[in-house]
Amino acid sequence: MSLDQDRRSFFIRKLESEKLLPENKHVLDLGPGLGDDIAFLANRGYEVDCVDKNPDVIANIQSKNLKINCVIQDLAHFKIEKEKYGLIIASNSLPFLPEKEKVDTVIQRMIDGLSKKGVMYLTLFGMHDEWQGKRIMSFFTEQEALGILAKSRVKIYWKNIEEGYGRTMNGSIKYWHIFKFICIKE
Ligand SMILES: C[S@@+](CC[C@H](N)C(=O)[O-])C[C@H]1O[C@@H](n2cnc3c(N)ncnc32)[C@H](O)[C@@H]1O
Repeated sequence: MSLDQDRRSFFIRKLESEKLLPENKHVLDLGPGLGDDIAFLANRGYEVDCVDKNPDVIANIQSKNLKINCVIQDLAHFKIEKEKYGLIIASNSLPFLPEKEKVDTVIQRMIDGLSKKGVMYLTLFGMHDEWQGKRIMSFFTEQEALGILAKSRVKIYWKNIEEGYGRTMNGSIKYWHIFKFICIKE
């Protein structure tokens, strides 16, 4: 097993162990970061598209020489093909959109982009997060987050709220408040 496979996120492990990895093998990752999850999925034969506004992030993913289609774009402007994907991931990327309305719009696009029974994993940051107040980001109450999902054709399969100190991608420690959702399209 390669290092990439070892580093896959808990939610990929959860989807796998609960037999939720979809038969539709088209996957979209919005804001993949290091790309460990999509590397794992590409190695498993999934057809992966990813979008990130940071060219360095995309260059790093392309350097893995995997079959992953990469787009350098702001995810707020990325048009998601309707009903194409079995799995859409937005892990710790939507909070970096400064307007809540845009986050809502992207989530609705994600849902439209899922095929029937498609799975979506997303995270939003809560009001207690240490970064709350940064104007380049958006933060939600639990009610607001649930409200966005309630008006859509998805059911929440699993929800978790995490609050406490933990590491950032650059290794520093901060106080996190994160809503995590796995949803399934009806
Ligand atoms: C905190 S990292 C999360 C990486 C990974 N998904 C994870 O959960 O570990 C945020 C990622 O989203 C990307 N990102 C942030 N804002 C973005 C935007 N407006 N459009 C596209 N990508 C964005 C960043 O470049 C980075 O790759």
